[in-house]
Amino acid sequence: MFSKFFVLLLATLTSSAFADPAVFYCTDVNWSGNCHQSPITVDQEGVCRNLKDDVARFNDAISSFGPDEDLHCTVFKDFDCPTNNLYNYAAIEYPGYADLRTIGWNDVISSYTCYPY
Ligand SMILES: *[C@@H]1O[C@H](CO)[C@@H](O)[C@H](O)[C@H]1NC(C)=O
Repeated sequence: MFSKFFVLLLATLTSSAFADPAVFYCTDVNWSGNCHQSPITVDQEGVCRNLKDDVARFNDAISSFGPDEDLHCTVFKDFDCPTNNLYNYAAIEYPGYADLRTIGWNDVISSYTCYPY
């Protein structure tokens, strides 16, 4: 009886509390084209992520961007998340934007940072 309860509890915890929140982004509007899901692990909270290397194909190419419910994100037009120019960064909350053209941010994101609520 106890072990059955424990297994259930563990299963519940691993699927919710221990699951990393993630961001999801795509090269086309409406979450289509080439897409990528990127978990925000504890060590990545508030860390600037550049769209370079393994995700370089998304640089200046993202048309849909959506954080999970428990994340705040900020997107930047330049690499390294610079906050020196107000017009070069924007806050994005859940559910994000299926069409970044609606906010004038299509194909311009080069870096982003996310942190949990
Ligand atoms: C995106 O989805 C919306 C809502 O379903 C639709 O009206 C629009 O035509 C779609 N846009 C494209 C480019 O597929």
